Amino acid sequence: MKKTMAFLLSCVLMGGMAACQAAPENGASMPQDSAAASQKDESSQPLPASQEEQDTPESAHHILVAYFSATHTTEQVAKRLAQGMGADLYEIVPEEPYTEEDLDYSDTGSRTSIEQNDPQARPAIAGEVWPLDSYDVVFVGYPIWWGEAPKILATFLERYEWTGKTVIPFCTSGSSGIAGSVETLQPLAEGATWLEGRRWEKNATGEELLAWVEELGVLNG
Ligand SMILES: Cc1cc2nc3c(=O)[nH]c(=O)nc-3n(C[C@H](O)[C@H](O)[C@H](O)COP(=O)(O)O)c2cc1C
Repeated sequence: MKKTMAFLLSCVLMGGMAACQAAPENGASMPQDSAAASQKDESSQPLPASQEEQDTPESAHHILVAYFSATHTTEQVAKRLAQGMGADLYEIVPEEPYTEEDLDYSDTGSRTSIEQNDPQARPAIAGEVWPLDSYDVVFVGYPIWWGEAPKILATFLERYEWTGKTVIPFCTSGSSGIAGSVETLQPLAEGATWLEGRRWEKNATGEELLAWVEELGVLNG
């Protein structure tokens, strides 16, 4: 919270979030070769869904909500979204967790500053590869870091073969929109149909999220 406030304050002082987005010199530049390797790690095992998700009355198990969240904001939205749809939930967990120092956007030498400035950065994901075969719709959630998705999203997208799947991005942020990050991510999931993404506040209600899902028309796939 302290960090978010400090971030927002620094944004106000810098004349708006556009200034914050511009921090990395080359953060928007990503490799175009998706490689689309299909689950390179053969020992794929699904992680257990929480009891909450299992108990939900509705069921949309052809839908996965995959998310990365460094400070639990996106996580809250992802959980509400998955629960509302009765979809499965997968957390993209970094092998090396992000510390407070790592997340220091005011330090050009911090881990996130370095990663976001490096087009080749692919932070490792912990655990086994979550199998995507049974899902035809994948919501992908993340925080905005300097106007972009964290590089671990590139690691995630490049793990899979996306042909025939529908991808729907969503994010949380101090105020930045989702558009720039989607432009960067799309080439990493070639063959997928991308529906319009959306930025959410952490207190977005289940009703609001479900109304969005209904607009998208993906529930009865
Ligand atoms: C390294 C870093 C860079 C950030 N860059 C931006 C930004 O460019 N624009 C913005 O609105 N918020 C930015 N934020 C704020 C986060 O997007 C916001 O707090 C988000 O909701 C955190 O999500 P999480 O708790 O799921 O990690 C940044 C935060 C961090 C740690």
